[in-house]
Amino acid sequence: MSTLQLRQEKMVNGHGSGPQTRTERQRTQEGVVGLIRASLEAKEFAYCPYSKFRVGAALLAHDGKVFTGCNVENACYNLGICAERNAISKAVSEGYRDFKSIAIASDLSDQFISPCGGCRQFMREFGASWDVYLSKPDGTYVEMTVDELLPGSFGPEDLNMKKVHNIPNEF
Ligand code: THU
Repeated sequence: MSTLQLRQEKMVNGHGSGPQTRTERQRTQEGVVGLIRASLEAKEFAYCPYSKFRVGAALLAHDGKVFTGCNVENACYNLGICAERNAISKAVSEGYRDFKSIAIASDLSDQFISPCGGCRQFMREFGASWDVYLSKPDGTYVEMTVDELLPGSFGPEDLNMKKVHNIPNEF
């Protein structure tokens, strides 16, 4: 059994956890339901003639704006882009860098979609402590943080850590 399957499965209309009031919890739940719905809708636009594996993503920015993305494949296979990276790139190219969460959807009926390693690193660029909702087509989901998906990660801060050798600027 995978780690994801071991984690508690949550129904979209179920109960949240953490130190929230009932109203806050309800609002969060509604927000998650909406974000998952947006990722399911984004999946409909997937361009995946080669893999026939549709993926949708919906990214929630700090101010409530939602950016969606789907996977877009290419006849030159290695040029394909994942749904998550597409949504994040759309947001960044419109000036957004602060994200609350991302919902991911696929057609897998018995498994929660698991983001690829490249997408985990791409998310990590914008922080390790935001939420990722891995969903199934029936709307059930598992909530994880970026840090849980990519423990011990390498991020932008690491580039400025102490080094044994500093390469001087050439100019
Ligand atoms: N894919 C995504 O869009 N996101 C993921 O996290 C996993 C994989 C896409 C890439 C490719 O178009 C298809 O799914 C099959 O790998």
